[in-house]
Amino acid sequence: MEQEKVLELLHSMTLKEKIGQLSQVTGEHYVGKVDSEMVETGPGYSDQVLEGDTLYTIGSIIGVSSAKMINLVQSEYLKRSRLKIPLLFMHDAIHGYKTIFPIPLGLSCTWNEGVLQKAAEHTASELRAAGIHVNFSPMVDLVRDSRWGRVMESFGEDHLLSGNLGGAMITGYQKSADGRIADSGVAACLKHFAAYGAGIGGKDYNTVDMSMREFYAYYGKSYEIPLKQQPRFVMSSFNTFNGVPVSASQEVMKDILREKYGFEHIVISDWGAVSELQNHRVAGNGKEAAELAMQAGIDIEMVSTLYLEHYEEIIEEHPALIQDIDAAVLKILQLKNEMGLFENPYVDEELEAQVMLNAECLEFAKEAAKKSCVLLKNDQKLPMSKEHKKVVLVGPFSDTRELLGNWQCKGSFDDVVSLAEGMRQAERSLELHVYEALTDCPAAELADCDYIVVAIGERWELSGEGHSSVNIELEAAQKQLIRDVKATNKPYACVCFSGRPLALQDIIDDIPALLWCWYPGTQAGIAVAELILGQDTPSGKLTMSFPRYSAQTPIYYNEYSSGRPANASSYSSRYQDCEIGPLFPFGHGLTYTNTEYSSFTISSYRITKDQAIQVSWEISNPSSYDYDEIVIVYIEDLVSKTVRPVREMKKYKTVTIPANQKATVEISIALEDLQYLSADLQQTVEPGRFNIYINQLENADFTIEY
Ligand code: NOJ
Repeated sequence: MEQEKVLELLHSMTLKEKIGQLSQVTGEHYVGKVDSEMVETGPGYSDQVLEGDTLYTIGSIIGVSSAKMINLVQSEYLKRSRLKIPLLFMHDAIHGYKTIFPIPLGLSCTWNEGVLQKAAEHTASELRAAGIHVNFSPMVDLVRDSRWGRVMESFGEDHLLSGNLGGAMITGYQKSADGRIADSGVAACLKHFAAYGAGIGGKDYNTVDMSMREFYAYYGKSYEIPLKQQPRFVMSSFNTFNGVPVSASQEVMKDILREKYGFEHIVISDWGAVSELQNHRVAGNGKEAAELAMQAGIDIEMVSTLYLEHYEEIIEEHPALIQDIDAAVLKILQLKNEMGLFENPYVDEELEAQVMLNAECLEFAKEAAKKSCVLLKNDQKLPMSKEHKKVVLVGPFSDTRELLGNWQCKGSFDDVVSLAEGMRQAERSLELHVYEALTDCPAAELADCDYIVVAIGERWELSGEGHSSVNIELEAAQKQLIRDVKATNKPYACVCFSGRPLALQDIIDDIPALLWCWYPGTQAGIAVAELILGQDTPSGKLTMSFPRYSAQTPIYYNEYSSGRPANASSYSSRYQDCEIGPLFPFGHGLTYTNTEYSSFTISSYRITKDQAIQVSWEISNPSSYDYDEIVIVYIEDLVSKTVRPVREMKKYKTVTIPANQKATVEISIALEDLQYLSADLQQTVEPGRFNIYINQLENADFTIEY
C-alpha cells in the first residue's frame, strides 16, 4: 500500500496497539501447541498479560515454522485483530532452514563471501517458502575463546573477516545489498550487539569489560562492517558491557549503534533480555526493566511482556517516549508493507515442498561443506590411495547422521548423508566395514584391511548456546581408539566433527592425518568422503586458533606485542607447562595440491598518501585438482605510539587455480591499511616501517616504509 496509507494506519492505532507491535510472543497462544522447531533458550512470560484483546495486538511471532502452521496462526490472529495488521514471523535459521549448510564457523573457513552469500540466499528461499519473514542471523560476535559454546555460530577471531562474511550473509538473506527485501528474501538480523563473544572465561551470558579502544578497533568492527549492508534488524545482547546490561545501555544502543554506526532500522532484544534486567539487578521490578529498555531504544521486546504490562505508567512518566514508539512502529509497518503482507498475509502451502531440499541447493550444500573442511595435518596419509580397497571405518561418528551441528532448525537427520553412506556413494568399489568401536571389528577383518578411517568428534549438543565447557578435549575413549588404531600398524587417518576447535596436544602425535570437518550439514558424509578419497582436495583455512590445552584459551593470532615476547625463558609471556603458541594457528590449512608460491614482486617499498603498493606473486598448482587457494596478507607495524597486535590481517582473497596451472595474485596495500586506532581513539598512521607477511605468521616477506 501507499506510504500515506501506512501513516494513516499508524495514526489510527491506540497506544496499546502500538505497544503490541513492539511485543513478540510464541505461536501457541493462537492455535494451541504448534509443531515448532523453536529452541527455547530462556524462560517464558506471564500468560495473563496476553488475555483478551491484547493477544490480537501483538506484532510478531517467534519460532513457528511451516507454511501450514504459519497460515493457521496468521488467520486466527487476523480474525480477531481490530486493525488486521498481519503478523511478522521470525526464526533462527542459523546455517540453513531445511537444507542445512556447515555451521557458520565451518563456513567461515572457506573465506569466501560468495559461498556465505549463496548459503544465505538458499536459506532465505526456504524460509520464505515456509512463511517466515525475519531470520535471526548472522551472528558476527568476535570470539577468541573456544570454551564458549557459541563459537560454532561465529566466523572466528578476526574482525575484518567476521564483518565481511556477516555482510555477505545479510546481502544473501535480504537478496539485495541496499537494505531492501527483494522477492523471496527475508529480513536479516545482525546479532548480538554488542561484544557478546567477549564474556569473561568463555562463559555464556557472562560479563564483558573492555576498553573502548579494544571495542572500536576489534569487537565493534565486526558489527560496524556488516551494518553497511543494512540488515533490517539488530539484536541486543544479553551481556553487560562495562557495567551496564546492553539492553539497558543508552551508550551502546543509542550512542554507538544509532549515532556512531548509523543504524536506522529495528532493534529487537534477545530472548527475555528485557526481563533479565531484573536479574542483573539494574531494575528493581518489571516496570523499571521495561522503562530502561525503552529508553535504551530496544524497539521490540522478545518473549517477555513487560512493555505491555507497564507501558501506561511509563508513558505517563516519560511522554517523550511516544515519539520513539511511533518511529519504531512505523518501521515495523513499513517492513510488513514492503514484504507485501497487507495484500497477502499468507504463504502458498503447495509451493513449500518444492522449494525445500531442492537439487540445486543440495549440490551447493555439498560444495560448501567440502570448502569448509580444513586439513590440519597430513603425514602423507590423505587422500586414501586408490589401491586401498578394503577399508575399516571406525568410531562414534562413522555412521551417524547427527552431523548437522547445533541450531539445526528444520533440518532432519533422515535427510543427512552419514560418512559411511557417503563413502559407499562416492566409491562403489570399496569394501567398507563400519564399526562404532574397534573391538567390534573381527580380528581377521582388521588384519586383512588396507586402510582405517577413524571418525571422531565432539557431539553436536556440546556446543551452541548455553554450552560452554571447561574441558575442550576429545573424550578419553576416542583418544584410546586412536591409539588402538595406531597399534594395528595399518595406514590410517582421522576425520573429526566438532562445533569448536578442540585442544589436541596430547593426542596429535598419534594422528598422522587429520581432516577437521566441523559440522558439515545435510550433505556431510558425501562431502567428507570425496575429500578423504581424493576426489577433491580440502582447501579451507582456520579462522580460529586451536589451543594445545583447554587452559590455553583465550588464544588468538592478533594479540598485542608484550614487553616480554614468549621465548624459552620462564620470565617471558608464556605458560611454563605448554609449548609457545597455538597447536594450529589462524590461517592454517593444507591441501593435496603441492602448491608453491614464487616470483614475489613489490611495486615500491615506499607507500604514500596517493600511491598504494602492489604486491604480487605466482601460485602454482601442479596437481590434478581445480581448487580455490586462500591467500592472506598480514601487516606488522614495527614501532607505534600505541601498542599494536603482533600481526594484523589486512587482505585476503580466494584464487581459483585450475589443475596443473599457475595463477598470479596481486594484492594492493594502501595507506589506510597501515592506519590504526590510537589509545586516544584517533585514526592514526605514523611514519615508520611495516612488515608484510603472506600466508604465514613467521618470517616477513617484505618490509615497507611510510
Ligand atoms: C537466544 C539467542 O541468544 C539468540 O541468538 C536467538 O536468536 C534467540 N534466542 C531467539 O531464539
